[in-house]
Amino acid sequence: MTIRVVAVSAGLRPTSATRRLADLLLRACEEQLRRRPEQRQQHLSEHRAGDDDVRTAVVELAPVAHAALDRLMTGAPSAELDAALGQLGGADALVVVTPTYNGSFSGLLKLVLDVADRTRLRHTPAIVAGTGGSLRHTSVPDLAVRPLLTALRLHVAPTSVFAAPPDWQEDGSPTPALADRAAEAAAQLLALVEVDRGCAVDRGAAPAAPAGSTSRERVTPLTAYGRAGSARPPATVSGRTPRSSRSRPR
Ligand SMILES: Cc1cc2nc3c(=O)[nH]c(=O)nc-3n(C[C@H](O)[C@H](O)[C@H](O)COP(=O)(O)O)c2cc1C
Repeated sequence: MTIRVVAVSAGLRPTSATRRLADLLLRACEEQLRRRPEQRQQHLSEHRAGDDDVRTAVVELAPVAHAALDRLMTGAPSAELDAALGQLGGADALVVVTPTYNGSFSGLLKLVLDVADRTRLRHTPAIVAGTGGSLRHTSVPDLAVRPLLTALRLHVAPTSVFAAPPDWQEDGSPTPALADRAAEAAAQLLALVEVDRGCAVDRGAAPAAPAGSTSRERVTPLTAYGRAGSARPPATVSGRTPRSSRSRPR
């Protein structure tokens, strides 16, 4: 089965530090998927195990900035913006990377998310990541981007990633610490994708909803959640909609 991981880069230039971090995280996802066959076999039901591959893409937000503002203010149509939003909504997992501007995410990221279709983003597994001019704002992904994505009901991986100039080596490769963190976040993202698909598969076996609750509040037990190379106790996720039941273009 193909896992589509889409990185959203809110940098202003294709050669930006933000794009570089987005590329690193996508490569980390590809590497994690190659490394994890036994773990996937262990956690996934038979028809999902073994054949997964990952397809990655980067959506640069800068080229659709004007269209997004027009959409927000007047509802103006834009095929380019729709294509970008379609890629976000059709992803199995998102890597959201923003430059730090004045101690927070960029206005461009917020603008595009404000015009995105919330129902298609809901429950999408995601990594939060950010770049900055120094290490002063390393908490921006956790303190600013995470609440933003949580408000949109994305499933955000516990590990966030922040990169400033000291996190890159002279040849442009990440420091070992940054590479490790990217690998950890990628492993968590793929585990969340497995949970997401497990919810769809295991739905029939879910316990009956408590009296008075709606179908969205049903609690589904899950067993696939963990860091690379370490199984964790079974996790429980409540109130989610299997992505397989959401309409999106393939
Ligand atoms: C308007 C503006 C505000 C910024 N504010 C911060 C900040 O508060 N903290 C920080 O660490 N870097 C800040 N920076 C630096 C950028 O976050 C940093 O250079 C980032 O890596 C740029 O990403 P890019 O190369 O993708 O554009 C700011 C840059 C600009 C242009």
